[in-house]
Amino acid sequence: MCVDVTRDSCHLCDGAQRENCESSLIGLLGDLLMFVLDHFHQEEKAMRESMLYMMDREVCEAHMEDHAHISEKIQQIVAVTDPSKTVIQVRDLDRLLETWLSNHVVLHDRALDNWMARQDSIIARYPKALIGSY
Ligand SMILES: [Fe+2]
Ligand SMILES: [Fe+2]
Repeated sequence: MCVDVTRDSCHLCDGAQRENCESSLIGLLGDLLMFVLDHFHQEEKAMRESMLYMMDREVCEAHMEDHAHISEKIQQIVAVTDPSKTVIQVRDLDRLLETWLSNHVVLHDRALDNWMARQDSIIARYPKALIGSY
């Protein structure tokens, strides 16, 4: 990655530096995209398979809409192919990850975690025969 995070373009970097930066970034973005899509898929599966989706559909749909929004933003960043924009791509990605952690996780994921923990404790307290399996 770029040694100078204050740069707005890659013009000051030599060819080898740019190539190194670009291939690292492509690999990183590919891994990130796969991780994000899989992570969101797992959360949405958990929502659909729990009672939360039946009891609080609006909350689940807002959570899933935010997943779609984050995925779209990541795909937009990944789609930038202009090598002179690599530094901007990294900065956009940094902002997106920051927003994901400070906003999405706090607003949506914690609520889902709390729900799943409550559901697990109910299942642990009562025999499966009474409440069915989830
Ligand atoms: Fe999450
Ligand atoms: Fe989430």
